[in-house]
Amino acid sequence: MRKLITTMCCIFSMVAGGLNAAPIEIKFSHVVAENTPKGKMAIRFKKLIEQRLPGKVKVSVFPNAQLFNDDKVLEAIILGDVQLAAPSLSKLETYTKKFQVFDLPFLFDDMQAVERFQQSEEGQKLLTSLESKGLTGLGYLHNGMKQLSANEPLYDPADAKGKKFRVMASDVLAAQFQVVNANPVKKPFSEVFTLLQTKAIDGQENTWSNIYSKKFFEVQSHITETDHGVLDYIVVTSKEFWAGLPSDIRPVVEKSLQEAITFGNQVALQKDEQDKQAIIASKKSTVIELTSSQRQQWKQAMAPVWKEFQDEIGADLIEAAQKANQIN
Ligand code: SIN
Repeated sequence: MRKLITTMCCIFSMVAGGLNAAPIEIKFSHVVAENTPKGKMAIRFKKLIEQRLPGKVKVSVFPNAQLFNDDKVLEAIILGDVQLAAPSLSKLETYTKKFQVFDLPFLFDDMQAVERFQQSEEGQKLLTSLESKGLTGLGYLHNGMKQLSANEPLYDPADAKGKKFRVMASDVLAAQFQVVNANPVKKPFSEVFTLLQTKAIDGQENTWSNIYSKKFFEVQSHITETDHGVLDYIVVTSKEFWAGLPSDIRPVVEKSLQEAITFGNQVALQKDEQDKQAIIASKKSTVIELTSSQRQQWKQAMAPVWKEFQDEIGADLIEAAQKANQIN
């Protein structure tokens, strides 16, 4: 009888212990608005995972650089202060130079080419290249092609001369402005609106959805549709956190993330056109469409950047990315 009572007590305390176990918390920190591809992807992930693992995993999303700016977020992941982020691929150069391939101006013809490269063997290899730094890349997420905004019209490269442009923390992006005799200024995303508004800088490069959601179009008189580069993300976590997830939890987290990324990519596609149209309709900024010869001038002017960074990035990787422009 005593044995039965002891066994019952054990079962009861195990069940009670199981019920009371604190959920695993995943803090997802990012810098953009909620109404963007990344913002919506993060919310979708939270919804999916909390539906599938109620009480076991809790996701807290911190948008708008509430928790960390992109220059600090990878460090915060390694330290375990946050568990998930999706920084722009342009913000990884202190960890590896390989991702700089994505910053080369006029490399990709369109977002389909970007997608093909990311899914290629070389693109997938890049995702795992941060393991030695304690980071695990879980997937790519799209935003879109970048446009150039300024407080004066930019038709050809000579129009950029002497102007200050904010760039992300990437030497390739800085060089891209230096070769057209402009002055790049590396600043966090959270400071861009104020820098533009106070005219501390003259312009910046970004996607339609970032220009719209952060209201840059309200403080820039012109936006030139250059499609000169890509702004995409790596969804990243810490190697330690990922390895430490229980084996019944990790696959569910991974599946939910992949589904959220697919959703985020659909949002990226829709918002790219929608937000461009919303900016045009606002009449606060004039959108300039380049002729093919004007676009060619920008392409030619920025071409020396490829050579400058070829050794750091690797000629093979650049070639692989270029191949993605061809549809097989
Ligand atoms: C982002 O889309 O996450 C930020 C891009 C930027 O810093 O311009």
